[in-house]
Amino acid sequence: MRFRQAWDDALYGPDGFYRRERPAQHFRTSVHASALFGQAIARLASAAGLTQVVDIGAGSGELGRVLRAEGLDVLDIELDDELPSVLTGLVIANEWLDNVPCELAELDDQGTPRYLQHDLTLGDVVEGNDLDWLSTWWPLAEPGDRAEIGLARDEAWSDVVGRLDKGLAVAIDYGHLRDGRPAYGTLTGFRDGRECAPVADGSCDITAHVALDSLAAVVPGGTVISQREALQVLGITAARPAYELSRTDPLRYLSELSAAGEAAELLDPGGLGAFGWVLPEGLL
Ligand SMILES: C[S@@+](CC[C@H](N)C(=O)[O-])C[C@H]1O[C@@H](n2cnc3c(N)ncnc32)[C@H](O)[C@@H]1O
Repeated sequence: MRFRQAWDDALYGPDGFYRRERPAQHFRTSVHASALFGQAIARLASAAGLTQVVDIGAGSGELGRVLRAEGLDVLDIELDDELPSVLTGLVIANEWLDNVPCELAELDDQGTPRYLQHDLTLGDVVEGNDLDWLSTWWPLAEPGDRAEIGLARDEAWSDVVGRLDKGLAVAIDYGHLRDGRPAYGTLTGFRDGRECAPVADGSCDITAHVALDSLAAVVPGGTVISQREALQVLGITAARPAYELSRTDPLRYLSELSAAGEAAELLDPGGLGAFGWVLPEGLL
């Protein structure tokens, strides 16, 4: 069995990781970091004149709670929920696509890309659309180099974008661009807030970074910007309140100080701020 199938079974099979576990117990997303993230998404929807948000891969629905408090109508989509055939409003997928299992490939000693098997050993020669995707988006150079073939993510996102009617879709994830792909790929496991070996037995989350540029190519006029840039445009700032406020209004000072700390985490260029937002050009 190829790794992609094992990965799929491990996360979404009858006893899979996401059938049993809550994401927040195992890793921290922007949604968990601060309500400021959801408030920025609400501003984006409002600036685009949209009153509904569809949150795909909603986890425990934390983003939806913030958005509802901001007056938006929210549809959470999780495993087993059928994606509506027509999507209206602002569609958000925060850290969904890195959890969409994809084929893994490695260059063998003869320079031929081969699929990786469930136990990460070399299998069949990569062919067809997978080979085309590799050549276009992630050419492998040296024997032992590894890639995650992003086709499954591109297809999943293309399916979402193809259902839009009077709506816009934004995918937010950690990822890379063609000129910065990591030589050995990014396959990683997470368990209880820590990285672990990505063993496909259902005991841990398994994730791989998203090829953000190939994803943007399935969106008409698609582009990639960093989360830091996107959130700054949407008014998030990590500026600390003036110290003077601590004397005139200490409670407000403390609340603004705490918000500045949360904003700093969302904007951190070495962390969440480096995430990519894939969106139609001109939306921000
Ligand atoms: C990393 S979690 C992100 C949760 C949340 N969006 C957040 O930012 O905290 C990925 C989520 O995507 C969900 N998921 C995976 N495949 C899905 C699918 N085909 N349809 C809906 N949800 C899916 C998983 O169940 C999981 O809750």
